[in-house]
Amino acid sequence: MSKVKFYYGEKIPLEMHKVRIVQKLNLPPIEQRLEAIQEAGNNTFLLKNRDVFMDMLTDSGVNAMSDRQQAAMLEADDSYAGSETFTKLENKVKEIFGTEYFLPAHQGRACENIISQTYVSPGTIVPMNYHFTTTKAHIVLNGGRVEETFLDDALQVNSDNPFKGNLDINKLVDLIETNGADKIAFVRMEAGTNLIGGQPFSLENMNEVRKVCDQYGVMLVLDASLLADNLYFIKSREERCKEMSIREITREMADLSDIIYFSARKLGSARGGGICTRSKEVYTKMREYVTLYEGFLTYGGMSVREMEAIAVGLEETMDINMVNQGPQFIEYMVDELQKKGVPVITPAGGLGCHINAMEFVGHVPQNEYPAGALAAALYLVSGVRGMERGTLSEQREEDGTEILSNMELLRLAMPRRVFTLSQVKYAVDRIGWLYENRELIGGLRFVEEPKVLRFFFGKLEAVSNWQEKLMAKFREDFGDSL
Ligand SMILES: Cc1ncc(COP(=O)(O)O)c(C=O)c1O
Repeated sequence: MSKVKFYYGEKIPLEMHKVRIVQKLNLPPIEQRLEAIQEAGNNTFLLKNRDVFMDMLTDSGVNAMSDRQQAAMLEADDSYAGSETFTKLENKVKEIFGTEYFLPAHQGRACENIISQTYVSPGTIVPMNYHFTTTKAHIVLNGGRVEETFLDDALQVNSDNPFKGNLDINKLVDLIETNGADKIAFVRMEAGTNLIGGQPFSLENMNEVRKVCDQYGVMLVLDASLLADNLYFIKSREERCKEMSIREITREMADLSDIIYFSARKLGSARGGGICTRSKEVYTKMREYVTLYEGFLTYGGMSVREMEAIAVGLEETMDINMVNQGPQFIEYMVDELQKKGVPVITPAGGLGCHINAMEFVGHVPQNEYPAGALAAALYLVSGVRGMERGTLSEQREEDGTEILSNMELLRLAMPRRVFTLSQVKYAVDRIGWLYENRELIGGLRFVEEPKVLRFFFGKLEAVSNWQEKLMAKFREDFGDSL
């Protein structure tokens, strides 16, 4: 796991940082948690953070910053045009990725808007290992189509493939041959594939994809939002890369890409985003969209403080002891849950721990949202907030038919360097208890259902009084414990 071995053989991740600023947490008693989740319409997005003990909703914009990032934020140069801070960030990006041109944007989806407006047109196709929600939305909005050419085992819950995020080369070639290279807007590879459990692709796979792109004359775009996790997996799982530094791996990935974009809410542990390229032509094509949608070219919607934090955060991402923290904590959590028989996605990926709700609450039918019900139940028994990734996150057909998701997952994100091991153990303890009492969990039904993005704002109720019964069992087993 970590390079540090324990004399008594314990296999636990060791924090390579210390905590110097803390935020007080609140764990309300279960009776209050029941009120809170019911008030939130059993939707964890609608909970108030003061009612949440461990916020595992997302890793976006909530990773811990370092002392150096905080210090850099104080010396930011605040000017509309020509800010010294922007030059610092531009130079850092150039140094790490070797890309001459950098366009700032306020977050990842803003980069997707700019790239899609520039390169996606009606009838074009964007092949990719897997889509992310905002990526697909922008491609579709511009009249394009997403085609996922993932491996057959990408969607398998349990697999021993260390690179489930790889792009299937044969499927990619077939797609290009069938539709013609002129129909391909670009090929997109998403590092640390978000929606399939934070699964990485290998550097070897990226090299193969590049060869195909060269053969057909199409661009390769790297979504580097979850690059930190993918870098760790390449270094620890890919034989050829074991002796390479994180910086060398990053540079090889960058050299293979025509465009790199990222959400700095994830990469660099700050907030913001940007697009990098070596090509002046590509840069010039996209530049005007930055000024139109984001802001002037030397801030692109970001505060100078965040730009300072990104510059330092990117440099810190080149440190194996930084990028290993998230994946090692996730691996620990996945292993401990497996020991308790809890069904989880394997191998452990980046981003978070993913529980297979389809199996956990197999008795809850998909049209009663098993992953949503599990998210509500877990909050109730622990104060841990996760995110539903299943049928509830889908949108109904025009005629009202439910689209049943391929997978029903409860995602427990692991914001980087935020939680301690004892907090992770607490979450494992409560999930283990919940698994033993899983037959008490029932389904949910909508009481307020928005037409779009219903998972953000929708409100649901329990189909029976199962939540009250679960609470009674909790009190029986835990006494007066919080
Ligand atoms: C892989 C990936 N791409 C793009 C985005 C969008 O980034 P943002 O939330 O900063 O708009 C995300 C956000 O979660 C992501 O995970």
